[in-house]
This record gives sequence, C-alpha cells and structure tokens, in this order.
Amino acid sequence: MSDVTRRFRGKVALVTGGARGIGKAVCKRLAREGCAVVVTDLDGEGMEVVEAIRAADGHALYMHLDVTSEAQWRQTVERAVATFGHLDVLVNNAGIARLDDVETETLEGFEQVTRVNQLGVWLGMKTSLAQLRATKGAIVNVSSIYGAGGGNGTAIAYHASKGAVRLMTKNVAIRVAKEGVRVNSVHPGFIDTPMIAPFIKGSDEAAAKFRAYVETMTPMGHVGTPEEVAAAVAFLASDDASYMTGSELYVDGGWTAW
Ligand code: NAI
Repeated sequence: MSDVTRRFRGKVALVTGGARGIGKAVCKRLAREGCAVVVTDLDGEGMEVVEAIRAADGHALYMHLDVTSEAQWRQTVERAVATFGHLDVLVNNAGIARLDDVETETLEGFEQVTRVNQLGVWLGMKTSLAQLRATKGAIVNVSSIYGAGGGNGTAIAYHASKGAVRLMTKNVAIRVAKEGVRVNSVHPGFIDTPMIAPFIKGSDEAAAKFRAYVETMTPMGHVGTPEEVAAAVAFLASDDASYMTGSELYVDGGWTAW
C-alpha cells in the first residue's frame, strides 16, 4: 500500500454498515488519513472499530443507525454535526444480499433488500445533503458489479437495488453538481467479507460451484479484499477526485472488462 497520506485531516465522515467487512475497512482507511469517523451500524462490532481507531490516535464515534429509518438518519446526522462540528463525507455502504431468482424470491424478501440497499441509500442522501452543501462535501455510494449487469441470473432483488444505487448516484450528482457536492458510486466485484462467506467458503458442493464461478468470471482469478475497496472509496471521497461526479468506479479484478 502507498504511504499514508492525510487527505482527510479536519474532515468528518459518516459511514453506514461500518462494523464489519467493507464498511469497517472504509472507517479505518478514512481515520488513518486524518478523518473523524462516525461509525454506524446495527448492533455488532461497531464499537470495536471505534476503539481500534482511537487506539491509533484517531477520532471516532459509534452510533446505532438502521438505514431504513428516516428518524434514525436525522438523529445520527444531527449528533455527528453536534460532536464534530460539520459533515464532509457520507459513505452509503450498508447492504444485504439474497440469492433468490425471479421466481423464487418472495415479496417480503424483495421488499427487505429494497428497503436496506435502495431506500437506505436514498434516505442517507436526503438527510445529509444540507450538511454536505455547507462543506461542499462528497457522497460515495456502494453499488456492485451486480448493479451494472445481470450476473448469473440469481439475486434479483439485489440486482434491482444495486442498479438503483447506480442511477440514484447519477441523478443526485446532477442535481447538486453546481453546489459543489460530488456524488459517485463504487462497484466492488467479489470481496472477502462476512457477506459472501456463506456462499463461497463452505465445503459443500454449492460453495465449490460458486467459488469456481467467481474464479472463472474474475480475470484476476481471485476475490478482492475490503481494503482494496476502501482505497477506492477514499479516493472518490477525497479532493484527488475533485473533477469526478456521477461516475462509477469498478473494483472488481477485471470482472466487467470482458
Ligand atoms: P457485510 O455483510 O460484511 O457488512 C454489511 C454491514 O451492513 C453489516 O455490518 C451489517 O450489520 C450492516 N447492515 C445490514 N443491514 C443494515 C441496516 N438496515 N442498517 C444499517 N446497517 C446494516 O457486507 P460487505 O460485503 O462488507 O458489504 C458492504 C457493501 O458492499 C454492501 O452494500 C454490499 O452490497 C456491497 N458489495 C459487497 C460485495 C462483496 O463481495 N462482499 C460485492 C459488491 C458489493
């Protein structure tokens, strides 16, 4: 990894789903570059992420935030600003996955994925924009390679939600471009996190098949790390990406290059 820079010195970020996986890596990366981080998640290991950041002389705060709750979003943004003075970066990372296809998915399952992955991202942008306008801040929405193509014909609700994240990103980017707020999306390929562990790490035939599918479909031949995605999120959130808005950045080992 390149030398640690301090691109976020004096800045404040709010990250959803920050307790584990990609969100945790994003929180640590931003903190390492000088950012004060509001780590949010459902109950889980969020406080441990905060403690790790503080142990490395960083600044962090944990807040319970279910991204499907507009009231919790408002409280969280308010507390972030009350604690750290302003908000510069919003990373909409929280997400859930279901593998069901067009016929096996249930109404409840589809709605659940939509509420977290799609409405959650919208609510985050809706409730944070006033603060981000004040700082000419940046939003990074975590979509997926599955937000840009049909995958292997499963996970219909997940594809729908991640496609929506991709286009909401562009829609909001256009709306706020002249106000100095940048909005971009990151599209990970398969990344080694607890989300995909059940599908990919088992010793059963289904896991072996899924592993083979991922290795075949990824030109680099292996899954990525949360830190590799966090580096892309940090780039888009930083002034290094000052002329980028409405864009989509793929961190996928070449998956979308075929
Ligand atoms: P993960 O399952 O390891 O972590 C997701 C986090 O989101 C968890 O800490 C969970 O508690 C939190 N979360 C779930 N529902 C929530 C809610 N209603 N409100 C607040 N937080 C909630 O997942 P991972 O892999 O770190 O994924 C992070 C993002 O990256 C997700 O949006 C996912 O769709 C996306 N992604 C992941 C890929 C992968 O291969 N791991 C590939 C492409 C995209």
